[in-house]
Amino acid sequence: MSAGTIELRKAKLSDAKTWSRIRLRDRRYLEEWEPTVGGAWGDRNSTFAWPPQWSALRALARRGQSLPFVITLNGGLVGQVTVGNVVRGALCSAWIGYWVGRHVTSGGVATAAAALVVDHCFASAGLHRLEATVRPENSASIRVLDKLGFREEGKFLRYLDVAGDWRDHLCYALTVEDVPEGLVSRLRHEGRLSLP
Ligand SMILES: CC(C)(COP(=O)(O)OP(=O)(O)OC[C@H]1O[C@@H](n2cnc3c(N)ncnc32)[C@H](O)[C@@H]1OP(=O)(O)O)[C@@H](O)C(=O)NCCC(=O)NCCS
Repeated sequence: MSAGTIELRKAKLSDAKTWSRIRLRDRRYLEEWEPTVGGAWGDRNSTFAWPPQWSALRALARRGQSLPFVITLNGGLVGQVTVGNVVRGALCSAWIGYWVGRHVTSGGVATAAAALVVDHCFASAGLHRLEATVRPENSASIRVLDKLGFREEGKFLRYLDVAGDWRDHLCYALTVEDVPEGLVSRLRHEGRLSLP
């Protein structure tokens, strides 16, 4: 992987400008894969849209329902990775979702960011299972899940409203037993990433 140094951190209120710039610029590439939400893309991704989103993410995190991170590459924000719908008890499960700016794609950024999050979820956050749902047409995201070792478990028909229609999604999952050595360590041994 050649992209550079990838780190995860909490979102900051001051991320508004960079977040908005990337999301407005990359609308066509992101909108195809993201859940349909009311309102115009330009409004939902303007700098003014960030404070309420940031605040909602923080509130969910404080309630233990989500683990939201921004992804930085060489110190600059390039995307987000979020663990959502955290359910405890006998499930100890959640979903994982991610996006990165088009300018950094195919450099291993999403794979490394998701691996860091998976390790955190399994080693520190007490989760047992992570699920990812992806449109069958989203080859790049499926490749990320393959590299991470998520297994395809089935297909959800007309599962999620994405880009204005109910889309089928493949369900991928990983449980803690699948990665006893941790994902970062596994990817390191496969030569897919290196530690500083
Ligand atoms: C999916 C996404 C997060 C991948 O991010 P990324 O940082 O480029 O991911 P990585 O570089 O770690 O891995 C991408 C892999 O897909 C491959 N790839 C990229 N475009 C592809 C395509 N059209 N068809 C097949 N493979 C593709 C890359 O070559 C790479 O594989 P490799 O390492 O074997 O060469 C990014 O494309 C994105 O943000 N897309 C829009 C939002 C989105 O789809 N989110 C996920 C919703 S489920």
